[in-house]
Amino acid sequence: MTAYLITSVSVVGAAPTDLLIRDGVIAEVGPGLTAPDATVVDGTGLVALPGLVDLHTHLREPGREDAETVESGSRAAALGGYTAVCAMANTSPVADTAGVVEQVWRLGREAALVDVQPIGAVTVGLAGERLAELGAMADSAARVRIFSDDGHCVADPKLMRRALEYVKAFDGIIAQHAEEPRLTEGAQMHEGEVSTRLGLIGWPAVAEEAIIARDVLLAEHVGSRLHVCHVSTAGSVEVLRQAKARGVRVTAEVTPHHLLLTDERAETYDPVYKVNPPLRTAADIAALRAALADGVIDVIATDHAPHAVEDKECEWAYARPGMLGLETALSIALDVLGPEWDLIAERMSRTPARIAGLTGHGVDPAPGVPANLTLIDPAAHRTIEPAELASRSRNTPYARMTLPGRIVATFLRGEPTVLDGKAVK
Ligand code: DOR
Repeated sequence: MTAYLITSVSVVGAAPTDLLIRDGVIAEVGPGLTAPDATVVDGTGLVALPGLVDLHTHLREPGREDAETVESGSRAAALGGYTAVCAMANTSPVADTAGVVEQVWRLGREAALVDVQPIGAVTVGLAGERLAELGAMADSAARVRIFSDDGHCVADPKLMRRALEYVKAFDGIIAQHAEEPRLTEGAQMHEGEVSTRLGLIGWPAVAEEAIIARDVLLAEHVGSRLHVCHVSTAGSVEVLRQAKARGVRVTAEVTPHHLLLTDERAETYDPVYKVNPPLRTAADIAALRAALADGVIDVIATDHAPHAVEDKECEWAYARPGMLGLETALSIALDVLGPEWDLIAERMSRTPARIAGLTGHGVDPAPGVPANLTLIDPAAHRTIEPAELASRSRNTPYARMTLPGRIVATFLRGEPTVLDGKAVK
């Protein structure tokens, strides 16, 4: 294994120091290190963070390899500074058996660009009728600990209760896509002033808030772990705040796009802005940002949702919901939070790694720690060109926007997956 000496790098915003990586771990940390056999990476002006961890990625394999594969999504992740991603279960076939989650896990190992941790479906075929083989997925080589029907809500309260009870035995988590389906029938965008003006059927905030309120009560009753995917409204934040104050075992994520973009984007009728849950209002964004700062929201997760051209470049009503996220998330976080490196490390690496139980990830560089880290140039700016993204899909809402920050290098267990801003393989 090659040794790497990263010189004069700021570790999570601290004064510059050197990092020596050897045999997959951080061997030494301190100023003025020398290692004649090591490849030197000049870290001047760069910030080192523990490798980012995404709790919510759609890799589309098996089934929609035209939109993304485990390999292309892993490369996008590495370029975005990630060393681990949790792959959502809404593939085709659905990841609702030990066989499918093991397939995704194995493809991740073969690509070897990030650690791919499969998420298992809660219900068979995401149909919301019968529990999937949660135990078999947990016992499989993929060692699944998070289960989600993301894309669909586990709407049946009895099934949700059973799922929470089942995973409690192995300290698993049910990650809920909170959307009361009866309240969102036919919905195209956030229900509010803009939807009224455009004449599009609205997706009311209460459809999210009602499910979160129900589920925190169920999680409290069962004493099990609940994670809330892509929180998007100010009201949801208040429900979560109260639940956390009572000690409910609930965690929550917010996406970069829900921290930045409002429902006014729908005025363009450009389906690149169609997403589920939908883009909300400026007041929601303000509440989400405050919750991210004070910890009511634990994590920034991308909800990276690649879609083929024919599923996005069509009429708004026919377009699939979802946006790319892996290659731009850190830049959006930097834009939204500023150079608050400790907070960024907490929300994008340490906490998601802890929630997912990914040992060796989310740990700040220190002697003996696995060398999973990313180097960022915070002073750089880049203009997002969809054609240059590593994802197989092009549905980024940030096309031609100039964003702060550039990922210079990413290391997975001591081996670079990205160097000089380029994928190594
Ligand atoms: O916008 C979304 N896209 N929201 C989801 O919950 C699912 C995702 C997808 O799979 O495309």
